[in-house]
Amino acid sequence: MSSPNKEDLLSEIAQFLADEQEMYGPFTFTAEEEDKIMSQEKHDIENELLHNSISDSVNKSTSIENPESQKPVTLKEKLESCQNLDQLHQLCEESEDLRTDLQGTRLVFGVGNPNANLMLIGEAPGEQEDLEGEPFVGAAGQLLNKILAAIDFKREEVYIANILKHRPPGNRNPSDEERKRSLPYLLRQIDLIQPKIILCLGKVSGTTLLDRDDSLKNLREEFYPFRNTLLTVTYHPAALLRNPQWKRPVWEDVQRVKKRVAELSEEH
Ligand code: URA
Repeated sequence: MSSPNKEDLLSEIAQFLADEQEMYGPFTFTAEEEDKIMSQEKHDIENELLHNSISDSVNKSTSIENPESQKPVTLKEKLESCQNLDQLHQLCEESEDLRTDLQGTRLVFGVGNPNANLMLIGEAPGEQEDLEGEPFVGAAGQLLNKILAAIDFKREEVYIANILKHRPPGNRNPSDEERKRSLPYLLRQIDLIQPKIILCLGKVSGTTLLDRDDSLKNLREEFYPFRNTLLTVTYHPAALLRNPQWKRPVWEDVQRVKKRVAELSEEH
């Protein structure tokens, strides 16, 4: 087969272009057609930008973590989400865990210096504390203020709380179950305050925090390592009111506390 000559090839190309033009129209555009095409393209580009910005914002809003899924659910998460005493106070106000079977009692959260070096922990609010919403304001509280004054501490300088934050009926001892329910809240309170020394007032306080069933006589006179701090135990002021012979051991215990707080404060 002979190869096509130049004239044949050119006429074939011309025919191809003529066919294409007939099918798709002229190869050049009039000024009007160009404007139409440009404005269509502009419209398409704007549409694409708009679409992208909408899908961007949708993506952004879905990529922001869903606040619902971040909400603390377990008690541990709720407690850990409390970054200060005010937040923990609010959580305690809403908590059913802290209630005893005495209806209508008031939350006795705790009182004092949120940066206290010394934290005192009693047993549970009594009638007067329930009325005022503050720990140790009754007769035992008056004696506690005197004990603190004896070691040169003002009440406002220390932090005072109880194992239970609601009054038990008839001022009975807190049950094991009540202590267990209340303890996580108190532990968070301790962690937020970070006192240098915790002084447990009475057997209920000492045995609950140390998780050790022992007599008060055996528990006192020692500083126990406890959650980044030291914990010691002495007689409850209410017991002291009934048993004046315990004044001396309490005096000795609080002198030891005063000395240890001073030593630890000098170290830091
Ligand atoms: N006894 C306690 O243990 N706590 C109080 O707040 C009052 C009396």
